[in-house]
Amino acid sequence: MIKDIIALPSYNSRGEQTLKVWIMNKSGFYSAYAPSGKSRGKWEAKTLDAKKALKVLPRIKKRLIGLKEKDFEIFDDTLEKLGGKNLGKIGANLSTALSMANIRAASDNKVYKFLNPDARHVPFPLGNVIGGGAHGGFTSIQEFLVFDPKAKDIFQAIETNFKVWNDVRKVLRLKGFTVGRNDEGAWIMRKDDFKTLDFITKIAEKHGAKVGVDIAAGEFYKRGKYIYHSLKKKFNSGEQLEFVKDLIKTYKLAYVEDPFHENDFKSFSELKKKVKCLIVGDDLFATNPERIIKGIDKEAGNGILIKPDQIGLVSRAILTAEIAKRGGFTPVVSHRSGETEDAFISDLAVAIEAPLLKCGISGTERVAKVNRLIEIWNGIKGTKRKPQMAKLKF
Ligand code: PGA
Ligand code: ZN
Repeated sequence: MIKDIIALPSYNSRGEQTLKVWIMNKSGFYSAYAPSGKSRGKWEAKTLDAKKALKVLPRIKKRLIGLKEKDFEIFDDTLEKLGGKNLGKIGANLSTALSMANIRAASDNKVYKFLNPDARHVPFPLGNVIGGGAHGGFTSIQEFLVFDPKAKDIFQAIETNFKVWNDVRKVLRLKGFTVGRNDEGAWIMRKDDFKTLDFITKIAEKHGAKVGVDIAAGEFYKRGKYIYHSLKKKFNSGEQLEFVKDLIKTYKLAYVEDPFHENDFKSFSELKKKVKCLIVGDDLFATNPERIIKGIDKEAGNGILIKPDQIGLVSRAILTAEIAKRGGFTPVVSHRSGETEDAFISDLAVAIEAPLLKCGISGTERVAKVNRLIEIWNGIKGTKRKPQMAKLKF
């Protein structure tokens, strides 16, 4: 039974104030941090300023104290009622942190086992090597990502990503192209989107890694056009479709996220018919069960990003992932650009059997997620089951 709940202001990797909450039961204290996005979608639940959210907790905690932490769905239902429309009254940042801390309390920190006792597949980490867009950089495309589909175990999967990231560092320094690193620890390179893709695909190939992109196209969609500053090009919807289709074919991309803005189900569906690639909706679905149902109906892609804070409750994020899987969509669990050492998403990815965990490569807040995957790998090894890398069906 929940005995007490407290919260304190904390800071994320971008230096923004966020919150950390603790839930107390008879065994001790269990904590969680709220992550924070920058390229936030319109359909995400509402967050509150951290200072305001901290003032909300004393008002609502008497409704949560006394609940059984193991009934995490009832806990989340209570938060949903208190939060009202889009969780606006309590803030999705506060509700996410509370929902995660409660599952930690329910499971005595063995989150993945509690959520899925049969779990034994560990996701491939998908990490951004070079970046742009809202996270900082010269390209309009927000993230140039890699993963190693041939990795036999979690160690190899992590190492490949680091090899690519370090090779990129080396070559950028040698050529004098280094500018810095962005919000997610990805390199910033003074080149346009095509040259960046030429560059990263060569290095990735050398290490047996596949390349993907998060275009985050909604961020540069203005008055009916996709505006690529460094390419000096403006595309309407039809041209954007052709452009993305060509990128997938030319660079043999395995993963494309948000190639269109967050209301364009139709273009997602047309692209999916034309290419063999994982086409993932992030801002399109916002981890929302109703939006993925619409996406399945319209065949708008074949993948969905799962970010618990987009919907503000872990149980709802799990529900969205389950609906997605039943509808033939691949769930990809994801970090946010503003992160902390909290690695809850690693447990969540294992529990829902997501084949990919988008968690960045460098920076302690990113490394925390892959280090947790190693702990989980080892935890599974300690049982009768053998850990395995997830099955990639695309
Ligand atoms: P965000 O970006 O966390 O800044 O929203 C991540 C993404 O777009 O996938
Ligand atoms: Zn995205």
